[in-house]
Amino acid sequence: MDLYEHQARELFAEHGIPVPRAEVTDSPKEARGIARRLGGRVVVKAQVKTGGRGKAGGVRLAADPAAAELTARQILGMTIKGHTVGTVMLAQPVDIEAEFYVSYVLDRAAGRFLAIASAEGGTEIEEVAATRPAAVARIPVDPAEGVTPAKAGEIAAAAGLPAQTADTLVRLWQVLVREDALLVEVNPLVRTRQGQILALDGKVTLDDNAAFRQSRRSADAAEHGDPLEAAAAAKGLNYVKLEGEVGVIGNGAGLVMSTLDVVAGCGARPANFLDIGGGASAEVMADGLSVVLSDPAVKSVLVNVFGGITACDAVAEGIVRALDTVRLTKPLVVRLDGNNAVRGRAILDARRHPLVQQATTMDGAARRAAELATAV
Ligand SMILES: Nc1ncnc2c1ncn2[C@@H]1O[C@H](COP(=O)(O)OP(=O)(O)OP(=O)(O)O)[C@@H](O)[C@H]1O
Ligand SMILES: [Mg+2]
Repeated sequence: MDLYEHQARELFAEHGIPVPRAEVTDSPKEARGIARRLGGRVVVKAQVKTGGRGKAGGVRLAADPAAAELTARQILGMTIKGHTVGTVMLAQPVDIEAEFYVSYVLDRAAGRFLAIASAEGGTEIEEVAATRPAAVARIPVDPAEGVTPAKAGEIAAAAGLPAQTADTLVRLWQVLVREDALLVEVNPLVRTRQGQILALDGKVTLDDNAAFRQSRRSADAAEHGDPLEAAAAAKGLNYVKLEGEVGVIGNGAGLVMSTLDVVAGCGARPANFLDIGGGASAEVMADGLSVVLSDPAVKSVLVNVFGGITACDAVAEGIVRALDTVRLTKPLVVRLDGNNAVRGRAILDARRHPLVQQATTMDGAARRAAELATAV
């Protein structure tokens, strides 16, 4: 999971990395008040999970609180590389003397981490690396040893950064380790005219596989993520919200992926990805149905199950029991195939639910679900 700049900034601050004073808002009016609190002049920064914000006009200096309100109004709602700006961060401007680049990134091939650092920060590091590769130092970091003060000194010297940055380099490594991040990047890390080292921009990618041991993350996800995804995650479901109108439930990630394709091939758009896995118990089916049905964009639901170890009759029992606990409000098209398919279909037929219909093939089921979703 990628963090927003303001979230990265908070993590940096918690680990003792100096950052400028800043606040976040989604309201231009509030931006004016924040600017006043920060001393009048502020840098207004679009909060989107993509790079190149500055180039796109999403990072701008405002001279006073009135200008901050105007600038925030212009930046909020902007689209940067397909990401709509929903919040802005207002930061205290600093007097920059020099801009550096530093990052730690997992080098999967080498089974190590890599410190990348350059005295030519501020602009896109890819550009510097392409045109002047010697200006970018790449130093392997052994995960067991980490970045000690001595290692930090080595990185700073190799990149031509002032020795003063070593403390920040050590702390940045602590962010990576303690927060279970796969990437931490500061561009620019600056030295101010007053001689202070400050992180002016941050990118952090957290390792989702470590989320279970980072207890506060689920709360963050509930606060910042899609509410349906948060509800699904709370139930342990493998759910991803998409933009269409056909709810999709299947067993096995591969089957669900191809179901999405087939729905799209029928001229409709899938509303979600939901893999209820091999077990597909009644409870999981009920949980899955309730999440999918609570999406207001969903017009019909397609359940596509291929019976394997969990046979179709067990899945059909699961659907029938789910229908007792979840109030079905939209048409449900079920395709059961594979182990005990005939028995499974008979169980569903016997339930005689007016909103449930069956199809014997995946294409047929997808076509029906697409028709139901697109019919007005
Ligand atoms: N608080 C600040 N005070 C002074 N200058 C700033 C401040 N924040 C950013 N800048 C200047 O703006 C430039 C761009 O800002 P920043 O690095 O945050 O955005 P970006 O790199 O364009 O965005 P992205 O990370 O999406 O590519 C910085 O290199 C720096 O020169
Ligand atoms: Mg930057």
